[in-house]
Amino acid sequence: MSLSSQGIDAEVKPVSEPTGLDHSTVPAAGLFSEERSADVVAASFAGTPSPRLRQIMSSLVTHLHAFVKDVELTEEEWAEAIAFLTATGQKCDDVRQEFILLSDILGVSMLVETINHRSGGTSTESTVLGPFHVVESPARDLGDDIALDGKGQPCLVSGRVTGTDGEPIAGALIDVWQANDDGFYDVQQPGIQPEQNLRGLFRAADDGRYWFRSVVPRYYPIPDDGPAGRLLQATGRHPYRPAHLHFIVQADGYAPVTTHVFCDDSPYLDSDAVFGVKESLIRPVPVVDDPEAARRWRMPNPFRTLEFDICLRPAG
Ligand code: BEZ
Ligand code: FE
Repeated sequence: MSLSSQGIDAEVKPVSEPTGLDHSTVPAAGLFSEERSADVVAASFAGTPSPRLRQIMSSLVTHLHAFVKDVELTEEEWAEAIAFLTATGQKCDDVRQEFILLSDILGVSMLVETINHRSGGTSTESTVLGPFHVVESPARDLGDDIALDGKGQPCLVSGRVTGTDGEPIAGALIDVWQANDDGFYDVQQPGIQPEQNLRGLFRAADDGRYWFRSVVPRYYPIPDDGPAGRLLQATGRHPYRPAHLHFIVQADGYAPVTTHVFCDDSPYLDSDAVFGVKESLIRPVPVVDDPEAARRWRMPNPFRTLEFDICLRPAG
């Protein structure tokens, strides 16, 4: 939802320009006071043409004023908050979005994600997208090895894409990406990792199955060299995310899902810096020691396996 779609014009009208409204009288909600601050300011939005923007601004002001009163914010703290938000904006560029990182570590990204993609317990739960997805993942064939840097413990990743009635979804598009054995995505280490390392775009087979060769991902810190990282440090929190693979799965007639599968032996499962872990997304990564299976799947022996079935609900 953009502000312009909610009726906010970029251009601010001069004060003297007639608006058709009489602004000269005391507002119906009365003058500002400590007790009535939220009501007075919320009432100033009463004429907002968009009902949704009116609801959002009124609720925001109500909660914001309650917060300021709750903590009795000092002027120094208010100035520090403004400086923090200014630094957050200044840290943003084409590839770094510090406001989203801030939203992530405050759990807001996960809350928005969760309330907008309720699975009802019947389809795969969603979680945060994160900043390391690339628009065009490289198309790969089922069974391809996406670990181009040859580092880490070989892992066969497989599963089945179905609908909520258990029907296989032939040709479902499966976009995957993960960190390497050092805990970095390829885009964080240009010139160090091969381009498109540990990424792939697969199509599920006729029976909905998918499989590819990779390595066990490692846990890693979110980018913590900016204001979000300083906030984590000041509050005694660590910046780590538990080991996971990212998935975006989509198919005609079904709602797409943006999710992860988490390795059940990873540290930080119970303290993910961005609150992305859901119980239903944790899977074991057992060792398989079976030369025949290794030959069949073109894996070295022994190898690890990670099975993750994905269930999509109907679109709409
Ligand atoms: C990620 O999983 O790639 C991620 C998610 C949120 C913040 C930083 C990284
Ligand atoms: Fe990640």
